[in-house]
Amino acid sequence: MATTEMVDLAVEVSKQAYVPYSHFPIGAVLLTKDGEIYTGVNIENASFGLTNCGERTAIFKAVSEGARDFQELIIYGQTEKPISPCGACRQVMAEFFEPDLPVTLVSKDKSTVVMTVKELLPYSFTDLT
Ligand code: THU
Repeated sequence: MATTEMVDLAVEVSKQAYVPYSHFPIGAVLLTKDGEIYTGVNIENASFGLTNCGERTAIFKAVSEGARDFQELIIYGQTEKPISPCGACRQVMAEFFEPDLPVTLVSKDKSTVVMTVKELLPYSFTDLT
């Protein structure tokens, strides 16, 4: 699927976000090297710290179904500038994605910035050695 189509899909899936507290929906689309698509949204909780971000939902769905090789991630939020993923999500990206994997960040008017995982989280902690 082309990046522009995945941006549109991220906007569409964000409508499934469970956001009764923030009212700030996020949609994520994760493309595997096989061309499979996994989507995700943020899922909040009355105990706020239990909230799962949209991009982590997509990554966890994919990993839980056996996917390991990823090509591209799209994250959409209703922000003025392209959405900036939180630190926890950057760490999860570093766990499962190659350092040069492109992450397309999308704003409410669909303007985009593409950053690699290593640009989002330089000098990341990735193993115990
Ligand atoms: N959120 C995401 O899902 N992804 C991001 O990249 C930024 C923040 C969510 C978490 C919470 O549900 C809401 O946005 C406000 O922080």
